[in-house]
Amino acid sequence: MPVKVHNRTIFWQQILQRWGLSGRRGVLTIIDEILNGVPVLLKMILNSWNKVIPVRCFTSAFEQTGGGIMYQRAADILRSAKRVTAFTGAGISVESGIPTFRGKSGLWNRYDPKFLDINYFLTFPDECWGRIKEIFYDFFGQAKPNAAHYALHELEAMSLLDVVITQNIDNLHQEAGNSTVYEYHGTARFLVCMECGKKYHVSEVDLIKLPPCCISCGGILKPDFVFFGEGIPEPASSMSALEAEKSDVFLLIGTSGKVTPACYIPYMAKENGARIIEINTEASAYTHAISDVFLKGRATEVMEALMETLEGM
Ligand code: APR
Repeated sequence: MPVKVHNRTIFWQQILQRWGLSGRRGVLTIIDEILNGVPVLLKMILNSWNKVIPVRCFTSAFEQTGGGIMYQRAADILRSAKRVTAFTGAGISVESGIPTFRGKSGLWNRYDPKFLDINYFLTFPDECWGRIKEIFYDFFGQAKPNAAHYALHELEAMSLLDVVITQNIDNLHQEAGNSTVYEYHGTARFLVCMECGKKYHVSEVDLIKLPPCCISCGGILKPDFVFFGEGIPEPASSMSALEAEKSDVFLLIGTSGKVTPACYIPYMAKENGARIIEINTEASAYTHAISDVFLKGRATEVMEALMETLEGM
């Protein structure tokens, strides 16, 4: 007689009781390892059981997210955490229409990143501003927060998230409502004069005539985000290092872990005993190195499923 699926964890408990296997955690962890180890093998077994158990409900879980049990583990970790930091990269904004930098459809496949090199910018500001306006203002400027950004705001409202450290310069975490956001690579929302240091909100600057100049001293304005060859701004740099010390859970979303020094922060957190939950459409530099739970999939879908699991507890 096929079993009615309330939620996958309960489903497995029923199967285990049926097999006379007790002690939830130990057994589930074994199942976890098996599930993640050999989805294909399991699928073959399931196919042979087709008459007994509806295969559909198994395959979708395994194939899409590495099993609902991984969600249960992620939810348990978040619920039992003292301090949670979300560490986000370009991947969280992909579903807002902003491409990643690396990977097949990454920006660096279409544009030579030299226009974001500070020395090249200082030498050829006109040429660089042409590219900068096209990508970061005409294009990025239209982006809106997506379900993953809003889920982080909801986590904050549920007191399950304290801080967001982002490598993104798109201001979407703040637009989604998160109150503490450290912009590790700065922001496109402000421009700064290279001569007198005066800051302008982008809405105050006319980007028709390029390069835009400072109305006080005539100096060239530069977007207030980190160019290659520039240091990490304060307070983002020291506050992020502090969070890597204080937080006992880091939630990594959509980052390849390839850009230094930002990519060191999750390793520092791990070294300080933090547990790492990772969300990415594919394995990153962190997945087999420090991640305790890897939820494979698009940030919006995974965060929605994680919120469901948290709300179901
Ligand atoms: N959901 C979740 N993850 C995704 C999604 C998605 N929809 N789409 C892509 N990803 C993942 C990719 O698999 C990749 O691991 O997002 C990651 C994006 O990697 P990068 O493009 O390297 O971006 P990131 O890690 O944020 O690099 C950061 O690079 O050039 C600099 O300053 C720039 O802040 C940027 C920095």
